Amino acid sequence: MATSLDADVRPIIPEDIARIVIAPKSYTDDATIYGAFRWLREHMPLGIAQVPGYDPVWVVTKHADIKEVERNGKLFHNADHNPILVDQASDAFTREINGGSIRILSSLTYMDPPEHASYRSLTSNWFLPGKISKLEDQIRVLARQSVDNLLSFDGECDFVRDFALHYPLRVIMTLFGVPPEDEPRMLKLTQEFFGVHDPEEQRPDMAADPVVAAKQWAASIEDFYTYFDKLSAQRREQPTDDLLSLIANSRINGAPIPRDEANGYYVAIATAGHDTTSSSTAGGLHGMMLYPENWAKVKADPSLIPGLVDEAIRWTSPVKHFMRNATADTQVRGMDIRAMERLMICYPSGNRDEAVFDDADRFDITRSPNPHIAFGFGPHMCLGQHLAKLEMRILFEELLPHLKSVEMAGDPRMVETNFVGGYKALPIRFTKN
Ligand code: HEM
Repeated sequence: MATSLDADVRPIIPEDIARIVIAPKSYTDDATIYGAFRWLREHMPLGIAQVPGYDPVWVVTKHADIKEVERNGKLFHNADHNPILVDQASDAFTREINGGSIRILSSLTYMDPPEHASYRSLTSNWFLPGKISKLEDQIRVLARQSVDNLLSFDGECDFVRDFALHYPLRVIMTLFGVPPEDEPRMLKLTQEFFGVHDPEEQRPDMAADPVVAAKQWAASIEDFYTYFDKLSAQRREQPTDDLLSLIANSRINGAPIPRDEANGYYVAIATAGHDTTSSSTAGGLHGMMLYPENWAKVKADPSLIPGLVDEAIRWTSPVKHFMRNATADTQVRGMDIRAMERLMICYPSGNRDEAVFDDADRFDITRSPNPHIAFGFGPHMCLGQHLAKLEMRILFEELLPHLKSVEMAGDPRMVETNFVGGYKALPIRFTKN
């Protein structure tokens, strides 16, 4: 993409709003970030953010436009450029250490047609609702253990650190066949992976570095690879029926899956598979504490739990953006988008779009329909969406009967990220049934 766009004919977002949308810190404060998105949806639903140090990008804030862009995987690619927005210096560093390529991770997110479909099909069957539902008993055991742990606290705890963070990690690691003693290592690596902009998650030796995002990203990927290489080799020698074994022993175009692509798969699932779910779970409880009529409703009628899960995911929108780039000159919302220009897909904004959701800022578990796009849309739509919803439903089914009341015991704290994240802390006080 060109480094400047003709301001006279193209909609340039006011700099203060553009900075808010791009800065990781804005996402720690709902009023700031949702205020900026509201302004954009009203005044410039498709505009160009020009923030020094970053490529200029089209910011896509309307639900309908996000779906239009995401549905067309040939016209809008994920990965001719970085599918995640970082500063130009970080992209330059990645290219420098990666033989000129921005593709630092060979995961589905970094793939386009036709490669994407062939890799996605290796596991898409495994993630279908009918298949996933067979895991319910296994997952419920993990949910019960987590709830027992929460109940062992004496009426006060941090719902994120003491509870929500651990269960989705246990689920995904169990499905992977990773031993429980390795989970702290996986948790640390994921937090580093998604928390590259958060001072509390940065590696001490990198925190002051101007390209910390790219450096930490590369370092955590390398650590993940070291870990998964060993497991991959074990599963090839002695195949089991877990997900890791399925990937390790899969074939692409008649040959065994290459090392980078296997590792990219594991990393994507290991990382995408739990921070998102734990944040949405925390968001569900937070939403009910802010709008307590929901708590009363779901306590009286557990059949509302699936609605709670959907609303928690919409309202939290733990994935803040993915990028696309146009592969040819085209138009969206009547705007001329040129080939290779980049688009920032803002899921939290689409999920608060007043054209689709009544009283969109309100947390309402009876919202129906709830056509949120927190899982994205089109060919890259979240592979793990049914697993995420199943996990969350089971957790709330196990948790809610044990809690009589719950209230906030302090302010929530959010991760500094414009990519994937959400709750870092949610202090609560509760009474047991
Ligand atoms: C992709 C959200 C849980 C694995 C995505 C995307 C989003 C997303 C927005 C990108 C979609 C797009 O580009 O259109 C979420 C949310 C979750 C969640 C909100 C929880 C509430 C999970 C889980 C797993 C998972 C539990 C795996 C166990 C993946 C993978 C991709 C992906 C592998 C890449 C798919 C592709 O590019 O084809 N997710 N996710 N996610 N997600 Fe999730």
